[in-house]
This record gives sequence, C-alpha cells and structure tokens, in this order.
Amino acid sequence: MATLSVFGAQWGDEGKGKIIDLLAAQADVVVRYQGGANAGHTVVVGEDKFVLHLIPSGILHGNKLNVIGNGVAVDPVVLLEEMDGLVARGIDVGRDSLRLSASAHIILDMHKVIDNLSERFLGAGRIGTTGRGIGPCYADKAARTGLRVMDLLDPDRFRVRLRATLAEKNAWIEKVHGHAPLGVDELYDRYASVGQRLAPFVDDTGALVRRAWKEGKEILFEGAQGAMLDIDHGTYPYVTSSCTGVGGIGAGAGFPPQAIDRALGIAKAYCTRVGEGPFPTEDHGPEGQRIRDMGHEYGATTGRPRRCGWFDAVAMRYALELNGASGVVMTKLDILSDFDEIRVATSYDIPTVGLEKVSEYPASLARLDEVVPRYESRPGWMADITGVRQYEGLPQAARDYVEWVEELIAVPIVMLSVGPERDQVIPRGKND
Ligand code: GDP
Ligand code: IMO
Ligand code: MG
Repeated sequence: MATLSVFGAQWGDEGKGKIIDLLAAQADVVVRYQGGANAGHTVVVGEDKFVLHLIPSGILHGNKLNVIGNGVAVDPVVLLEEMDGLVARGIDVGRDSLRLSASAHIILDMHKVIDNLSERFLGAGRIGTTGRGIGPCYADKAARTGLRVMDLLDPDRFRVRLRATLAEKNAWIEKVHGHAPLGVDELYDRYASVGQRLAPFVDDTGALVRRAWKEGKEILFEGAQGAMLDIDHGTYPYVTSSCTGVGGIGAGAGFPPQAIDRALGIAKAYCTRVGEGPFPTEDHGPEGQRIRDMGHEYGATTGRPRRCGWFDAVAMRYALELNGASGVVMTKLDILSDFDEIRVATSYDIPTVGLEKVSEYPASLARLDEVVPRYESRPGWMADITGVRQYEGLPQAARDYVEWVEELIAVPIVMLSVGPERDQVIPRGKND
C-alpha cells in the first residue's frame, strides 16, 4: 500500500468509512486532511455501529495512529464528545492512537450560528449545509482571522484572539441577521476547558506523517465528502468548503503530493446527494424512493433523506480523472438486487444549446442544471447477494452490470461491497 488516498467519487456518503476501516487493517497511519464534523463515516463491526465525524476510521483497530491533519476544520466540542463516546464503548483513544494538528482551524459556536443564519438568509438559494459551521470556519481561515488548535492551548492568547474575532462576528450576527450576540466569557470558559483536555493529543502532525512515510510506514489518507462537493471542482456553489480529493492532501496533511502512490475512488452502485444543487440522474419517482428505502438513504450526520438516483458515468469519469484514480470500490451493490432493470447515465443531452450525447462533464453549473441524462440499462439479478464473497459467486447479471460500468468509467473496479459489515466485500483481484 505505502501511501494511498481514498476519496469519495460522488456527492459524499459513498461508504468511505466502511472501506477505510477495512483497508486500515493493513495501514499504520490513517489521516484526515479536510472537512470537519459535516462528515459522517459509518463503520459496522458485528453488532456495533459507529458513526465517525472527525476521528479517522482507523480508530476501531486499536493499534493504528489516527491523525487529524491541519486542513480539518475541528469542532473541539464534537471531537471531545466523539473521543468520550468511543472510550465509553471500549475503544482505545490515547496519544498512541490519536493526534490532532496544532495548526488545524477550530469551529466555535459563532461559526455554527452564522452557518445557520446565512442559510436562512439565502432562502431559495440555500446550499443545504449540515449546519456544522464548516463554511464560516474555512472563510475565517482564508480571511486570516481564524483561530487554531494552538490558540486554544494558550489561555491568554485564546482570550485575546477570541475577543477580537467575536467583536466582528457579533456585529455581523446582530446587525445583519438581527440575532442575539454571543458572550465572550461564556465561550472562553467552555472552549478553554475543552482545550486543556485536548492538549495531550496535539502535535505537529505534518512532521509526524512525513516521518512515518520516511520510515516506510503504510499511510492511508481518508477523504471526507466527495469529488462533486469539492470547492474548486464540484458543483459550486453547492459544494462544501474544502478540497475533498487527492488535491487536498498536500495542503491539508502537510504531505508532498508526489509521494501519494495511489488513489482509490469510492462510489455507490447508484447515486445519492444530500442538500441542494444539481444532480442530473436524480429520480424523483417511485424508483428513487425505492433506492432510498432499500439503501436506508438518510444522512449519517443530519438524518436528512438523501436524494437518490442512478449511477452517473459522466460525472464519475470526471471525478476519477480529476483525482487520478487507479481503482474504484463499488459499494451498495446489494441495494440494486431489488430492481429488474438497472439504469446508468452514459452521456448527457443539453437541449438548450442543441448538444447531444455529451460524454464530458460540463464545467458550467448553468449547463449542468439543464442536462438531460441519456440512460442505458441492463437487466437486474433479483437475488440476494449479501452473502456472496467471491466474484464468481455473483449472478451473471450482477457481473455483467459491474463489467459494463467498469467499461464506461475506464478504471478497474477493484472491490465490491455487498453490505455494511466489514466482511461483506468481494475482491476482484485487480490492483487491490
Ligand atoms: P461515508 O460518509 O462515505 O462513510 O458513508 P456513510 O456512512 O455516510 O453512508 C454509507 C451507509 O451505507 C452507511 O450506513 C454504511 O453502513 C452503509 N454501507 C456501506 N457499504 C454498504 C454496502 O455495500 N451495502 C449496504 N447495504 N450498506 C452499506
Ligand atoms: P461524508 O464525509 C454528504 C454536503 C451538505 C451540503 C454541502 C455543504 O459523510 O461523505 P457543509 O456543511 O459542508 O457546508 O455542506 O455539502 N455535505 C455532505 N454530503 N456527505 C458528506 O460527508 C457531506 N458533508 C457535507 O449536505 O449539501
Ligand atoms: Mg457520510
């Protein structure tokens, strides 16, 4: 493995948590490099289900180093709750298993308040954020007014910086949104004590990861969200506020990008999206509802129903090319077992500009809103595949579907997932 990037190749919730947990068995270090508690990565181990928001999905193995890199927007309260929750369930969360970057930006209450207030302000133009303060925190980072983990560790410095930033934020909260201002003392007391508890885990994580790499350790980079939610390359402005794919690793982990050996895209056998924004293959009818029901497609972080639709080979080719993916893991193949016909968008028509069979993803959002997917279909297999562990054990129609999609996306599908549990996977013996 050496160094492997695992990223979401659609609109998030592709099953990254499950696959990263699985691959973490062979890793020494698992690194989150972007996003924050907007992520909800589900890992099912036997009867136990864990939903991780900030802590990397390697934590359940016990003997791995899990790193929250400098590019993550860290809500210190959520992080502590997550740590305590894991400890209460018997998971080891000590300095040997978790490190937090001193340079990571922190999400404070005002970021969450502003996230929710500005969503309301946008009205019909709202993004449908998770309300976790992600956008406002990254905005402060870019504006160079953000507070970082290292500030939290120095009480005097934290008070001064908090007072300064809150003065401006409160003016905005009160004057623009007509909302009650936040009290500096209250915030200070709460976060300063959280800072003290997190202090033992804080480190120069970039140096740590680079050192591990030089020592020949196996490093797994855990992407959150998905390629189509990338702030630069996704369906802007309906995106999250970070670089979700391989491109985010250099900056967000402090790791040389040319040292990333391989990239693995995680994709569902169909598509989902939470929140607003274009989704060409969304199915508003009974089939979309059936995918939602069969796939339990409700957000792991917010509980919102996910919008559902068919596999989009056009968007997928774009996401894989963008991230230089050498392989794809196709998850939730079992959910399609209930369909006698399975559709895939193989190209787009854009009638407003007279274009047909467009096979390249259009960069313009206006265009994307207007695309009409051209579907092709294959017969379903109508059989339970959740117990299958070898490719040859799949019904012929299921293999035909996988091989057809593989041809359409022109990247090897190296593993299939047929259920939420760790062992519910089918290796394909290519590239791993
Ligand atoms: P992530 O954000 O990419 O980690 O994905 P989420 O955890 O938000 O959503 C994926 C959901 O699908 C979780 O409830 C997983 O337990 C579940 N899941 C993952 N892989 C499979 C699979 O192959 N089959 C089924 N039925 N469920 C899966
Ligand atoms: P994981 O890592 C799915 C979506 C939100 C919203 C947009 C912006 O579990 O795949 P934000 O709160 O980031 O400002 O919201 O991005 N979004 C996700 N959708 N999975 C996620 O994470 C997501 N994180 C953010 O629904 O549309
Ligand atoms: Mg998720």
